[in-house]
Amino acid sequence: MIGLLFTIAAACYYIPWLVKIISEWIHQYPYIMKLPGPKGLPIVGSILELAGDGKTTDTSTAPLLFWLECAKKARAEGHQIFSMTYLGRTITLPLNGEMVKTICESPEQLMKGKDYDYLKAWVGDGILTAIGDKWKERRKFFSPMFHFTMLEGYLDSFNKHARILQEEVAKTEGTEIDMFTYTKRCALDVIVDTAMGCEFGIQRNPDHPYPHAIEVYTNFSQRYNTEPQMWITAIWYLLYHREYKTALNALHSLTDDIIKERFKRVQSGIVDLNAKKKPLIDHFFGLVEQGRMTMEELHYEINAVIFGGHDTTSAAQSWVFWALATQPHFQQQCYEEAMDIFGDSDRECTHDDLKQLQFTERFIRETMRIFAPVPLVERELVSDFEMGGHIIPKGTEIFINAFLIHHNPDAYPDPWKFDPDRFLIDEISKRHPYDYIPFCAGHRSCLGQKFAMQEMKILTSTALRKLSFQSDKNLLDQGYATDVVLKATKGCLMTVKRREQH
Ligand code: HEM
Repeated sequence: MIGLLFTIAAACYYIPWLVKIISEWIHQYPYIMKLPGPKGLPIVGSILELAGDGKTTDTSTAPLLFWLECAKKARAEGHQIFSMTYLGRTITLPLNGEMVKTICESPEQLMKGKDYDYLKAWVGDGILTAIGDKWKERRKFFSPMFHFTMLEGYLDSFNKHARILQEEVAKTEGTEIDMFTYTKRCALDVIVDTAMGCEFGIQRNPDHPYPHAIEVYTNFSQRYNTEPQMWITAIWYLLYHREYKTALNALHSLTDDIIKERFKRVQSGIVDLNAKKKPLIDHFFGLVEQGRMTMEELHYEINAVIFGGHDTTSAAQSWVFWALATQPHFQQQCYEEAMDIFGDSDRECTHDDLKQLQFTERFIRETMRIFAPVPLVERELVSDFEMGGHIIPKGTEIFINAFLIHHNPDAYPDPWKFDPDRFLIDEISKRHPYDYIPFCAGHRSCLGQKFAMQEMKILTSTALRKLSFQSDKNLLDQGYATDVVLKATKGCLMTVKRREQH
């Protein structure tokens, strides 16, 4: 009897879901068959190729290599997109700036892909994941917080944490380190300071519970998207739920404590919400006071900024150090530029200095071209969508793959060659604006891109003023893991040396 009831309950639960999948498939199938790209095996699609097909031991890099191979083939056949299926998902990848523009400037296609769902427990349903009017409202709230006049208020924080990074890294002189570990702690210190107006001091105290909770939670998010056993409720609760929930609770309670603490200071007048220089949280308190946001929404938006602002910047910055350490001649050029601006002084980097760090900026941009820090941005199509002369059916996904776009030989001849001069104004004007998309583009482009560029210019120049970086590897002697951000599977390994002061 119990067995029968259980079967009926399971059928009631799963049948509507199955009906939805099958009816979507009936609509999508005729269109999918006409799309260029590998067709793969029935149901599982190209999962074997994405996993390396036994040809490589570096399975993390396999999807990118497979996509690059498919892109090459599709371009040679004159296509501007290609599609593929895996585990019941159909994804379409644009191959040039014009196709990226089509999707990024579509006012309807703003819905994020399925892989974001799992993040909602931490970042909620706000700026990162919302669609429609809610997203529009949030975007309107956020935009003034990243206006260049506001960014000046964050320079002190960038300088302070850049100095600590430089000091912490200097302590390791002579031993090999993975710079990602250091840039991650630094980016967290910066974002906690600028978003919540408080200091965790993670660079000096790496055992702080916050980075650990983020690490555990984001690892689960990434594994959830690729490990189907986690989708089975019983297995999830038996094996994973406890550790996941502990990390998630820790993240929420740390944010909660800080919000409560700061709100008390706002109420007692110690914190002035009208101050010119203020952390993002104070902007949000202003919105709460005006009745345009609830405290719960504020909580989730702060988490969203922390998620969107630290992992990305730390990955990008670790690639910058990798590109410096493996290319001494470019490192020397960046160093000389910093010396011309700052000389031997110990002073902080100002807004005017940032404008002068032009070669360093081109160097950072070229690093983010070769090693796109966010390699994939996903959109789930809410209606049939025309792209590159094909109809891409509703319910399937577009993967805006910056890695493919940045290695398009039509836009970047000899695409694996590192050349910062590709970002001289004359060179930029020869390309489609959407041929360069480290921060995505269009309606949902990154709100923090100027913030991130300023932060990275300060971290880079501050480090180079006192330290040099060495590696015996070549720039491209790397493997690439396409998590939410692009990670170096061989590590960003290098040694540092203190520079002699004149
Ligand atoms: C090098 C550093 C960074 C990179 C490469 C980067 C990249 C991106 C990308 C690719 C997106 C689009 C995501 C999508 O559409 O699915 C995005 C969105 C976003 N980023 Fe960044 N980001 C960086 C730093 C930051 C920082 C420092 C902040 C905040 C302080 C930030 C805040 C945001 C927000 C709020 C969005 C959502 C915008 C929306 O959906 O309307 N990002 N970022």
